[in-house]
Amino acid sequence: PGTTSAQHEKSPDAQLARFEAELARAYPADAPKPTKTREFELRAAPTTVKQIDGRDLDVWAYNGQVPGPVLRVKLGEEVLVRFKNDLPQATTIHWHGVRVPNAMDGVPGVTQDAIEPGESFEYRFVPKDAGTFWFHPHHQTPEQVGRGLYGVLVVEDAEPLGYTRDEMWVLDDWKLGRDGQIDPRFVTRHDLSHDGRWGRDITVNGESHKVMEVRPGERLRLRLLDASNGRVYQLRFDGLDAKVIATDGMYTGKPVTLLGQKTAPGNRLDVDITIPKDAAGKSFALMNDFGRQPTVLATLKVAGEPVETPTFEPPFNPNLPKWEGALERDIDQTYVLDARRGGPHGIEWTINGEVWGTHEPTVLKEGRWKRIRFQNDSFRLHPMHIHGQFFKVLARNGVPVDEPFLRDTVLLERKEVIDVGMVPLDWGYWMMHCHILEHAEAGMMTEIHVE
Ligand code: C2O
Ligand code: CU
Repeated sequence: PGTTSAQHEKSPDAQLARFEAELARAYPADAPKPTKTREFELRAAPTTVKQIDGRDLDVWAYNGQVPGPVLRVKLGEEVLVRFKNDLPQATTIHWHGVRVPNAMDGVPGVTQDAIEPGESFEYRFVPKDAGTFWFHPHHQTPEQVGRGLYGVLVVEDAEPLGYTRDEMWVLDDWKLGRDGQIDPRFVTRHDLSHDGRWGRDITVNGESHKVMEVRPGERLRLRLLDASNGRVYQLRFDGLDAKVIATDGMYTGKPVTLLGQKTAPGNRLDVDITIPKDAAGKSFALMNDFGRQPTVLATLKVAGEPVETPTFEPPFNPNLPKWEGALERDIDQTYVLDARRGGPHGIEWTINGEVWGTHEPTVLKEGRWKRIRFQNDSFRLHPMHIHGQFFKVLARNGVPVDEPFLRDTVLLERKEVIDVGMVPLDWGYWMMHCHILEHAEAGMMTEIHVE
């Protein structure tokens, strides 16, 4: 009696044990028992779709559509995807953010062989977390994603929530040539000396000016995904209070305002929006504040008879780790991010001075807490993504931050240093890379072995 928890933690081991226990409460190590198997067919192939402003655009697509299909399952259901590659290149599917068995992670040369043209592959796993995830190739990724190959995996809660609507909005930008078709020059020197491939034409679900009709009083869950190769967005709804309830597929600890949040390639933000009862006839614009001036990306148009607004709390995660005192611990692993001349593209993006394929993998012990530092020595953006793990930001440029949410991808601004805390729960060989796809292609990728 009379001792504080800090005194109890004199031994570093006790503190570590507390960190590990805090994470263990935040999300489960194991997948729930499968209740049934949901089967999907996915086929990747070149096709022509009406896209952007309604033009015929030659793309590479899953099941003939861009974005690809939204696969919806309930937590506890097993996902079985029969995939057929009808592309002119080899490919794989990576399930971004999903804690899959390692063999299902879709990384050629690491977790599976690339799937050659004409070949098939079956992906099978039971998601461990309810949330918004996505899938995309992990081979010649800048070109394959840049041509339109990506889709969404929504893992619904076992018990349905009370939203009047649950919608997916996928953001992408298109770099077109003079002929109005996708510019076929991928991983250019320009892309590499900047923040990857940025296109002028931004779309939501493939449309330049998406309009979605909603009724007064509706309460919607809008799942936002940045599927761009390199573009970062800073989103807000003009005139509406949008609350972030989940980041990168994990519920937040409490509602967080959308204002000021940046969305980098790979990131998902699920927002909770209530349309005011008296808003009939009004429109609310989804604005992008990233860049020289705000632009409108899409519009919610209010029409029709009002509906009763459902009242309920989303399943906030009350058990997010706090990890107080974590910054007093030593850094277990530092990743310095930088560029240099050389390599097949003329510019290489490096992690600790090395490119993909030349590093010793980082070895982390399953279930052990680690403090990891990302140090951006460059003047470019790097959204760093770790496969199969969630982590929490502890500090930015040495200043402690207490974000009430977890991430699988964190954006490093120019010259920024970010410390994260993490407890790997899943055995396997996991990629860690910049999600600016051109940076990853030019070397900015390494491996973490969880043993
Ligand atoms: Cu969406 Cu290896 O990434
Ligand atoms: Cu980068």
